[in-house]
Amino acid sequence: MTFRSKLFLNFMIALLLAVGLVAAGVTIVTRRVFDQLNGQHTDAMVQQFQREFERRGQDVAHRIKAIAEEEATTRMAVDLSRPNADVSVYVHDARGVSSSHQLNFLDFVGNDGSIISSEEYPARFGYKLSWVTQPDDWAARGAFLMKVETDQGPALGLMAVSTVRVGDRDLYVVGGERLGKEFLSSLVLPADMRALLYLNLASEFQEPNLIDINGPAPDADRFQPLVEKIEADPVEQTEKISWGFDPSNAEVFKALPQVGRQKELLGVLFVGSSQRTVVSLERRIRWLALGVAAVGVLLGLLLSWWGAARVTRPVQKLVAAAREVSHGNWGSRVEVHGHDEIAQLSKSFNQMTGQLVEQREKLVQVERVAAWRELARRLAHELKNPLFPLQTTVENLQRAREQNSPQFDEVFRESTGIMLGEIDNLKAIVSRFSDFAKMPQPELAPVNLNDIARNVVKLFEAQFGAVGRPPITPELHLQENLPIIQADATLLHRAIENLILNAMDAMPAGGVLMLRTQTIEHGVSLEVSDTGSGLTPEESERIFTPYYTSKQHGSGLGLAIVQAIVADHGGRISVESESGVGTSFHLDLPSSPPHKPQVFPMVFEKKEVEA
Ligand SMILES: Nc1ncnc2c1ncn2[C@@H]1O[C@H](COP(=O)(O)OP(=O)(O)OP(=O)(O)O)[C@@H](O)[C@H]1O
Ligand SMILES: [Mg+2]
Repeated sequence: MTFRSKLFLNFMIALLLAVGLVAAGVTIVTRRVFDQLNGQHTDAMVQQFQREFERRGQDVAHRIKAIAEEEATTRMAVDLSRPNADVSVYVHDARGVSSSHQLNFLDFVGNDGSIISSEEYPARFGYKLSWVTQPDDWAARGAFLMKVETDQGPALGLMAVSTVRVGDRDLYVVGGERLGKEFLSSLVLPADMRALLYLNLASEFQEPNLIDINGPAPDADRFQPLVEKIEADPVEQTEKISWGFDPSNAEVFKALPQVGRQKELLGVLFVGSSQRTVVSLERRIRWLALGVAAVGVLLGLLLSWWGAARVTRPVQKLVAAAREVSHGNWGSRVEVHGHDEIAQLSKSFNQMTGQLVEQREKLVQVERVAAWRELARRLAHELKNPLFPLQTTVENLQRAREQNSPQFDEVFRESTGIMLGEIDNLKAIVSRFSDFAKMPQPELAPVNLNDIARNVVKLFEAQFGAVGRPPITPELHLQENLPIIQADATLLHRAIENLILNAMDAMPAGGVLMLRTQTIEHGVSLEVSDTGSGLTPEESERIFTPYYTSKQHGSGLGLAIVQAIVADHGGRISVESESGVGTSFHLDLPSSPPHKPQVFPMVFEKKEVEA
């Protein structure tokens, strides 16, 4: 992954995280606000219910009191206070009175608690309502919830009791309103709220006992756990009920327990608020956040792409320049803009390449001077050999002439012979010198290095096994399908010849000569190694210097020629050697030499040895 892509990716992750955090924050905050609003709504509803409940209660108590104070009731009380009063004449009174006072339940109960007349359960005439006669201040109690037995089964009533006292006997007026769907429809609810009432009239949960304004509520079974929870612990509860997968169909219900005089649970009022508005608002906010995020991401994408490009462009230039340096263009430079870290890096890079070029020039100069010095030293040494006999011969000749020696002619003949011989030596030295200087440029053609190696070894085969000489065993490890390279076969032949000659000289007691070829990156390599005398590290450093030789009749030009040939092919040569163990020369040759032959710096891989 490029630096630019990494930078861009980091920008993007940071941006997405920021947008995600903001969106999540907004969603959480709005949800909290909505929940709060919802709670406030429900509380208002509950208060409304309680007010309505109280108002209804007062109304019921008021109407019961009014019945008790009516003249007909007083008359009934007076009549009943008489001994042996006929109670049967009043058996139908409750019906008429209740309808005129719009009551669902009404009972006239005698002093002993027996029912004289009942609206909701006329057949219970004479039945004892013992709870009425228990001491209680009915006037002060007001209305209360009660399970009422009717001829159609039990019902929940908002009841009140009033007494009419005649003498020491009481007539009880017990009545009230049914708490059912009519009561629920009297509650004014906002559009997204509804109220349900569970009538806890049986010992177990009964689905038809859950009613809404239309009667028995659908899916009543879903409320069963909540009802059972309240039965176990009659306190306010809040629970969310989901109707299907769509969250907007969910409702949050506040369940309020409704208890009677003995604190027994008689009903549960459910105030539910639909989550539709909340969910749709939430959805709208989410879409808005997504939209903002998308625009942000798009803008961020453009900005970060542009930003990343701005940051990485100078870095890319630096990378390109560094690559050029690695390819040999040591003078490579980068433009410096501004004063930031990248600019400082570019400046340092330029300084570094400047120093590199300077150092290289210095090194080349030093090497050149050293090479000329070595050459001059060797040349002086070579020339000194024939010059010394020349000088003594001329001096001998002069002396013989001055002394008028009778053998002058003989001396003269001898001396000129010596002088001509030494002049020939001088000529040979000069011609070797000029031969080296006149090394031809390679004429390139497709070449198989394996073939050349085989040919050269064949040439020497006779000498390897010559009689009277310890044998040398040639070993060829030539890689099959070695790539063809562009090279001058004659020059390579000459180079390998020189290396084999040196190897043979290094193995006077015989040994193994090994040639190995193999493919390398962008070319081929040849290794020529022997098990001969080897070289000390100091010798390894000097052997490529022209005229360096350790041999009595050596010219010291063999390896210099090999190096020149390899360099002219754009390749490199290195030596690895251990004194007393052997030497190997490595030649790396490119598939096709560059147009202008490049000189590779020499590499000497030395091993610490004991001389
Ligand atoms: N394979 C080798 N093992 C040990 N020493 C070597 C080997 N090859 C070269 N040398 C050392 O390097 C010196 C220089 O070798 P180079 O081929 O340049 O000159 P030369 O062999 O001495 O003379 P010429 O090649 O002209 O006969 C040799 O004199 C020898 O000391
Ligand atoms: Mg040689």
